[in-house]
Amino acid sequence: MLRVLILGGTGDAAELAAKLANIPEIEAIASLAGRTRQPVTPVGNFRIGGFGGVEGLANYLREMEIDILVDATHPFANQISWNAAAAAKQVNLRHLMLIRPPWSKVAGDSWIEVNNTHDAATALENQAQRVFLTVGRQELAAFAHLQDIWFLMRMIDPPAPDAVVPSGEIICDRGPFALETEREILRQYSIDAIVSKNSGGDATYPKIIAAREMGIKVMMINRPPMPPGEQVSHVDSAVNWLLSKC
Ligand SMILES: NC(=O)c1ccc[n+]([C@@H]2O[C@H](COP(=O)([O-])OP(=O)(O)OC[C@H]3O[C@@H](n4cnc5c(N)ncnc54)[C@H](OP(=O)(O)O)[C@@H]3O)[C@@H](O)[C@H]2O)c1
Repeated sequence: MLRVLILGGTGDAAELAAKLANIPEIEAIASLAGRTRQPVTPVGNFRIGGFGGVEGLANYLREMEIDILVDATHPFANQISWNAAAAAKQVNLRHLMLIRPPWSKVAGDSWIEVNNTHDAATALENQAQRVFLTVGRQELAAFAHLQDIWFLMRMIDPPAPDAVVPSGEIICDRGPFALETEREILRQYSIDAIVSKNSGGDATYPKIIAAREMGIKVMMINRPPMPPGEQVSHVDSAVNWLLSKC
């Protein structure tokens, strides 16, 4: 029996957990950070909450007698990915990163590529008046000083009552989002720019298509660097990789 810990919080992690649940040679535990109020719980065994840094994760891996650590976290969940790489090294475990490919700019896209939310905020100055901000509730403060811009902010849960939030309106919703929904949002709110992380995948891509169709610019935040190590891009590749270790 191969014991696998999946670090999750993404659709890919949930899909992987569901597929592994059907493989008798593999026993998987999925781990969620516990950021959202009503998380979509994975199929099979799961746990919720931080481990307590690299040491905490290394202890958990030892205690639970994990054989393989799969990091299927969001490409912008940088801290946990570096912690995972360090903990796997410390415990001498195999470690696989499941990272969906980033979106690539295609003909008709009007992207301004930046490296973080602060640069995205700078790029918006004098460039936009009504912005669709889709970076998640933890990153709102970076835009709060832009008082000449109105923001439509979409996130899963509302920000904390004491959070620093830009002026505008908040929509709480969880992807996947349909192309027609995204077109309607851009039209209804007269959006002239979008801020997006380059998350990759299909669930949040329709806003990028709608922006292309409507000639709306996108401040696209590039991914932070990942730790070195073995990587696959798709859930089925991760399943095959794990099967090859059974
Ligand atoms: N950042 C995004 O844009 C984004 C978007 C969609 C989904 N998510 C998901 O939301 C979660 C939190 O994202 P984040 O950007 O706040 O992460 P982060 O900055 O990389 O991680 C911060 C801390 O949260 C805990 N943590 C993160 N992922 C965990 C997991 N899967 N299981 C247990 N603990 C975890 C760890 O705490 P300890 O140090 O105490 O272990 C970690 O040090 C991630 O699991 C990610 O997949 C993030």
